[in-house]
Amino acid sequence: MLSRTRATTGDTRTFLGAIIRNPHQLGAIAPSSKAVARLAASVVPDTPGAVVVELGAGGGVISDAISDRLPPGGRQIAVELNDDMVHHLRGSRPWLEVIAGDAGDLGALLAKAGVTRADAIVSSLPWTLFDEAQQAHVLGEIASSLAPGGRFSTVTTLTVLPLPRFRRFRALLDRTFATVGTLGPVWHNVPPALVYTATLAAGERTTDNG
Ligand SMILES: C[S@@+](CC[C@H](N)C(=O)[O-])C[C@H]1O[C@@H](n2cnc3c(N)ncnc32)[C@H](O)[C@@H]1O
Repeated sequence: MLSRTRATTGDTRTFLGAIIRNPHQLGAIAPSSKAVARLAASVVPDTPGAVVVELGAGGGVISDAISDRLPPGGRQIAVELNDDMVHHLRGSRPWLEVIAGDAGDLGALLAKAGVTRADAIVSSLPWTLFDEAQQAHVLGEIASSLAPGGRFSTVTTLTVLPLPRFRRFRALLDRTFATVGTLGPVWHNVPPALVYTATLAAGERTTDNG
C-alpha cells in the first residue's frame, strides 16, 4: 500500500511538470481521477491471457485501474509519447510494459512487441490536439489492432464536447466502430469527464474508417 501511495504522489508531480514543459502534448490540466480511470478500464475483459493496450498512460492512474481488472496471465502494454512520463512509468510501475512511442504507429509498435491483436485498447489521448487526418489515422490503427469483438474506451472532458475537432472525432468513432456508448459523466474529475466505449462487430477487424 505504501509503495502505491508514493507512486501516486509522484504521478501528479511528474504530470504537472510535463504539462508545464509541454502543454501541447499533454492536453490536460490534471491527471484523471480514480473514478474515471475505473470507467476507462471497464472494457478490460475477464478472459485469462487477455492483452490490453493503453494509449497515453501519462502518470499511470489508468494503468493501475487496468492492472486491477486484468486476469492473471494477461499482458498489459502502455504506449506513451512523452519522455518524462515514460521514465516515470518505468520507475514507478516495473510490472508495466512501457513502449516509448506514438499511438499513430500502434500497429508497428505492437508487431515489434510480438503482439498480433489486443483484446482491449484504453485511451486518454488528447484527441482535440490532433487534426482530422491524425484522428482518423490513430483510430484506424486502433481498429486494426483490436481482436474481433475487441473493446475500446477513451476518456474525454466535458469542456471539449462543443469543439469542432471533438465533434469530428465523435463522428469518426461512429464510422469506425459497430457500437459506441458513454459512461459517466464523473463530475468530480477536473474538469468533469466521461468515457466513450466502442466495440468492433464480432468477426470485424477493420482498417477502414473513411
Ligand atoms: C490527457 S493525458 C492523460 C494521462 C493519463 N492517462 C491520465 O488519464 O491522467 C494524455 C497523455 O497522452 C500522451 N500522448 C499525447 N499524444 C500521444 C501520442 N500521439 N501517442 C502516445 N501518447 C500520447 C501525453 O503525453 C499524455 O501523457
